Amino acid sequence: MNKWLCCSLLVLLDIIEWTTQESFPPKYHHYDAETRRQILCDKCSPGTYLKQHCTARRKTLCVPCPDHSYTDSWHTSDECVYCSPVCKELQSVKQECNRTHNRVCECEEGRYLELEFCLKHRSCPPGFGVVQAGTPERNTVCKRCPDGFFSNETSSKAPCRKHTNCSALGLLLIQRGNGSHDNVCSGNREATQKCGIDVTLCEEAFFRFAVPTKFTPNWLSVLVDNLPGAKVNAESVERIKRRHSSQEQTFQLLKIWKHQNKDQEMVKKIIQDIDLCESNVQRHIGHANLTAEQLYVLMESLPGKKVGPEDIERTRKTCKPSEQLLKLLSLWRIKNGDQDTLKGLMYALKHLKPYHFPKTVTHSLKKTIRFLHSFTMYRLYQKLFLEMIGNRVQSVKISCL
Ligand SMILES: *[C@@H]1O[C@H](CO)[C@@H](O)[C@H](O)[C@H]1NC(C)=O
Ligand SMILES: *[C@@H]1O[C@H](CO)[C@@H](O)[C@H](O)[C@H]1NC(C)=O
Ligand SMILES: *[C@@H]1O[C@H](CO)[C@@H](O)[C@H](O)[C@H]1NC(C)=O
Ligand SMILES: *[C@@H]1O[C@H](CO)[C@@H](O)[C@H](O)[C@H]1NC(C)=O
Ligand SMILES: *[C@@H]1O[C@H](CO)[C@@H](O)[C@H](O)[C@H]1NC(C)=O
Repeated sequence: MNKWLCCSLLVLLDIIEWTTQESFPPKYHHYDAETRRQILCDKCSPGTYLKQHCTARRKTLCVPCPDHSYTDSWHTSDECVYCSPVCKELQSVKQECNRTHNRVCECEEGRYLELEFCLKHRSCPPGFGVVQAGTPERNTVCKRCPDGFFSNETSSKAPCRKHTNCSALGLLLIQRGNGSHDNVCSGNREATQKCGIDVTLCEEAFFRFAVPTKFTPNWLSVLVDNLPGAKVNAESVERIKRRHSSQEQTFQLLKIWKHQNKDQEMVKKIIQDIDLCESNVQRHIGHANLTAEQLYVLMESLPGKKVGPEDIERTRKTCKPSEQLLKLLSLWRIKNGDQDTLKGLMYALKHLKPYHFPKTVTHSLKKTIRFLHSFTMYRLYQKLFLEMIGNRVQSVKISCL
């Protein structure tokens, strides 16, 4: 920095200091009666009002504003301004009034101010998502969902969401989504979709308690009426009645109910427990790759009506190896007027010996049976269930009572 610039800067700084000193606190001209001269008085600061003008000997006298009034700038007024009274309809207090600030009101949650009115935040229709949520001062900003995104609701909060990536989930894309609809993926890989084990061993174990031991007229309707949460609609109930035998009807109904209420805490827990059970069963017998002949032998040794070679063939074609046995067992249960699969399986294992069935498989099956017998979590729900549906159905006998 050269000398000249340095000096100029100092001068400049001096000038700035001088002018600020001059203007702070801000001043005003006042005619002083005593000296008969115009003198400069300090203005009053925010939060105060002017009580006495200054004189040649005395500074301006400013005193604090009384309650519920304010001044918000340097001024020469001899009174404070009243704070605005309570907020308007649909508004709430954002900042209470104090000596330096008026009361600040704002529109309540979900509304914004437009021309003195608190209007509701706009909701973005399907196909549009929220890009800026509304504030007390500003309306929601919606934008059409770009490619690959969708919004299927009318909402003042929801942004556009990414289409589900079916292939990343190992599923097939069966209907391409658009701005207002998500991609639709097939339930599962094609094989399992066709395999379709309707009611798994675990679901059977879990829901069996709700199956009446004796023929009970209108049992299904009683269940429908008394299950908590979203009701299974009449159409579904009719379909279940048409398609399934009595025990199966209860399982199917509880399955649909479970699905429809999957967001309820209790049902979430049931689903978790069933999933836990399924993965245990898979661990025990999922890896047993049985040949067609072995499956045939096993099915033969189950009591009652047989699951025949055609069923076995079809199952081998449509189900993954890990699911074939479970599928055949569920076919057997349905064929045999709602028998208990575990009992059937125990019977079969006793009668398998002469066929030199692979030891590892019989061993796994026994383990599975033991596991399902010890799968006691359902007892808790059984109690809950019975309490829920209890009052209306005390006269109905339920198998576990
Ligand atoms: C008065 O209210 C304003 C906001 O409205 C706030 O910034 C300020 O700190 C308050 N003053 C005192 C003394 O509480
Ligand atoms: C879907 O997921 C797959 C595999 O993770 C990825 O390769 C593909 O780019 C994704 N598609 C979209 C549209 O994100
Ligand atoms: C989006 O897809 C759904 C079903 O897939 C269809 O009903 C709807 O008309 C489509 N909307 C547009 C704007 O293409
Ligand atoms: C919106 O899409 C999601 C994801 O596909 C789906 O779970 C939800 O049920 C849909 N909601 C409506 C109202 O269609
Ligand atoms: C069963 O078959 C699957 C594929 O078909 C194979 O990956 C697995 O190793 C087999 N398991 C046994 C125990 O042979």
